[in-house]
Amino acid sequence: MMGLFITIEGIDGAGKTTHLKWLGSYFEVRGRQVVVTREPGGTPLGESLRKLLLESDGAIHPETESLLMFAARREHLERVITPALREGKVVVCDRFTDATFAYQGWGSGVSPARLDVLEEWVQRGLQPDLTLFFDVPALVGQQRLGSDRQRDRFERERTDFFERVRAGYLDRAARFPSRIRIIDATPGIDIVRQSLEHIVASY
Ligand code: TYD
Repeated sequence: MMGLFITIEGIDGAGKTTHLKWLGSYFEVRGRQVVVTREPGGTPLGESLRKLLLESDGAIHPETESLLMFAARREHLERVITPALREGKVVVCDRFTDATFAYQGWGSGVSPARLDVLEEWVQRGLQPDLTLFFDVPALVGQQRLGSDRQRDRFERERTDFFERVRAGYLDRAARFPSRIRIIDATPGIDIVRQSLEHIVASY
């Protein structure tokens, strides 16, 4: 595959969405065809699953959540990500499998060994070329989400949940240091963008 697969991660409120848009245009300006997409979602079925996962009123067992995340991901890989990479495009994806390890694994206690099985089953060895992890402490993320905005199921979790999710991301970054780059997202947008530009300049 000749394309470039970049995933963006961070706890809720880290500000990744702002940087995602910039990243897409960064590659377009350099003449690349870019597909910006997201998880859960990215396909009609995936978006329906997203709605179920984010807007459902009742509790969903974390293993069920994991299965639905990976079901959406299988569809997304098949219909969007793999074809785009084959055509040499840059795929910028808002969250991917590291989010399942961080949220369902570290946040909600699903065994990482089970997630490893699903990952292999769904991805068959395919990994992002680069993962940008926008890192902020859980309290900062909570403050950025604000109190006036309607929150989805995950955003309603407490600070200690997000501290575990953050620890999960940092664990992933330590395991896969050449793929996952940690960006300190505590400072203002301009400074964070400079770090980002420095990293993507070599791609
Ligand atoms: P998010 O990416 O934050 O979208 P928005 O910025 O539009 O709110 O929302 C997706 C939510 O789904 C987020 O809270 C994390 C959660 N999530 C998981 O728990 N596991 C996963 O595997 C993925 C992809 C997302």
